[in-house]
Amino acid sequence: MIAIYPGSFDPITNGHLDLIQRGSRMFDKLIVSILRNESKQALFTVEERIEMLREVLHVYPNVEVDSFDGLLVDHAAAQEATVLLRGIRAISDYEYELQMALMNRRLRPDIETIFMMASETYSFISSRLVKEVFSLGGNISGLVPPSVETRLSTRLSKTKSQRGA
Ligand code: PNS
Repeated sequence: MIAIYPGSFDPITNGHLDLIQRGSRMFDKLIVSILRNESKQALFTVEERIEMLREVLHVYPNVEVDSFDGLLVDHAAAQEATVLLRGIRAISDYEYELQMALMNRRLRPDIETIFMMASETYSFISSRLVKEVFSLGGNISGLVPPSVETRLSTRLSKTKSQRGA
C-alpha cells in the first residue's frame, strides 16, 4: 500500500517527523509530497525543502520525497497511492481536515484519507510558530531536526544582513 503525506513543510518539524516515522511502519511506501503552487509566502524554496526533507528522511528506506502542482488526489493517483496521510494535533485542526478529506473523497472516492494523532510531545508545534519563535530569538531545539535548525540560522542571518544593507 502506497501513502502520500502532503504538506508545505516550511520547514519540517519534529511533529511531521514523528508522523512520518509511524507512517513508514504502516505503509509499504510513504511519499512525502511538498505542495508547489502555494499561496502562502514560504521561507524556504521547494528545492530547499526537498533537500531538508531528504537529509532527515534518508534513513527510512521506504520513504520518498517529491513535490506536486495541482490537485493532491491527482498526484496521489499518478503515484498509485491509495491513501492520503494527515496528522491531527488538536480539535482545531479537525474542521479544516474534515473539509479537505470530504472534498478529496468526492474528487476521487478510491483514495482514502487516514488520520494519525500527533504525539502529545509535539502537538503544539507548527512550522509557522517555529519560524516565529526562532526569528524572535526563542529556543527551538527539540522542535525541529538539528539540520533544519542550522538552515534556519543561516536563513535568518542572511535575511537580517539583507535588511541591514
Ligand atoms: O501542511 P498544509 O499546508 O496544511 O498542507 C495543505 C495541503 C498541501 C495538504 C493542501 O493545501 C492541498 O492538498 N493542496 C493541493 C491542492 C488541492 O488538492 N486542493 C484541494 C484539497 S481539498
